[in-house]
This record gives sequence, structure tokens and C-alpha cells, in this order.
Amino acid sequence: MRPELVTLEPLVRAHVPAVLAIEKELFGREAWSRWMVQSELDEGHHYRAAMSGGELVGYAGLAVVDDTEAWVQNIAVRAESQGHGIGRLLLEDLLAAAGDRTVGLEVATDNPAQRLYARYGFEIVGVRKRYYQPSGKDALVMLRGRP
Ligand SMILES: CC(C)(COP(=O)(O)OP(=O)(O)OC[C@H]1O[C@@H](n2cnc3c(N)ncnc32)[C@H](O)[C@@H]1OP(=O)(O)O)[C@@H](O)C(=O)NCCC(=O)NCCS
Repeated sequence: MRPELVTLEPLVRAHVPAVLAIEKELFGREAWSRWMVQSELDEGHHYRAAMSGGELVGYAGLAVVDDTEAWVQNIAVRAESQGHGIGRLLLEDLLAAAGDRTVGLEVATDNPAQRLYARYGFEIVGVRKRYYQPSGKDALVMLRGRP
């Protein structure tokens, strides 16, 4: 897949079934439920769908807390489309939406996505013990653009 053929658009309710399929594929028992995905959209957070050939291939969301702070809620690319720059495209969109706010995220201690975040200036600032359930895995807290 060529990333130049991928376009970003607002994530809307019509995308939810495809989001749930990718969640299940990537996160298994820790996948977000339909209720969680829909409530994220209802909150009005900044969510983007990465589309290719009319199909959802990835998505990402940012919660803007206030003028100074925003949090990456999720970023996911379906397995068969990974490694083609779609994750970077989504993250760059979220960072543009965050403007000059400090951006935070949680990432599992064993997730190679940390490398992606480090490349965009995120630094590890702490650990949330047993953050992911039911696995009980710890999460690293990473921040970018601390004042
Ligand atoms: C993390 C994720 C969104 C990245 O999407 P992607 O489209 O594969 O990423 P890109 O092709 O844009 O690659 C960006 C960088 O991510 C890093 N990276 C991300 N996932 C990686 C993996 N599984 N193995 C190795 N490197 C990885 C690489 O450093 C890569 O940079 P490079 O190609 O210059 O070496 C995707 O791997 C994914 O959906 N993972 C499963 C869900 C997940 O864990 N999400 C993060 C939750 S915090």
C-alpha cells in the first residue's frame, strides 16, 4: 500500500463497525467496546479515519483538555497495512490539532510504538502500574512539549 493513496477524514459513526474489527484484531481481549468507541465520538474528541480504497485502514483520536493539554486516546493501523507510514500520518494530524499544547499518551511498556512516539519528541515521564486490563500490563506515560 502506498501512503500517498491514504486520506484522512473525520471518524464518524458509520466507521464504528470497522473500528471494532480493527480493535479486536489488534487488542484482543483489551479491545474497546462499541460503547467506548461511540462515547469517544460523542465527547467530540478529534478523531480521524485513515481511508484507502474506500476502506478504513486506521484511526486515531486526540482529547483536547484545555488550552495547554491534550491526550492521544488511541492510534491504530490494521495489521496488514502497518509499516507504510499510516501511523505517522495519523500522529502528525493529531499533533497538528494539538497545536502548542503539551500532548500526553499511555503506551504499554512492551509496545514498539514507543519508538514512533520518541521520534516525535515524546519523553517517558512515568509508569502507570497495571494500567491495561485484563493483562495487568504496565503503561508508560509519555509527554511531548512540556512547558
Ligand atoms: C503503532 C502503529 C499505529 C504504527 O502504525 P504504522 O502505520 O505501522 O507506523 P508507520 O509505518 O507510520 O511507522 C512509524 C514508526 O513506528 C515505529 N513502529 C511502530 N510499530 C512498530 C512495530 N510493530 N515494530 C517496529 N517498529 C514500529 C517505527 O519506528 C516506524 O518508523 P520507521 O518506519 O521510520 O522505522 C501500528 O503499529 C499499530 O496499530 N500497532 C498496534 C496498535 C497499537 O499498539 N497502537 C498504539 C497504542 S499506544
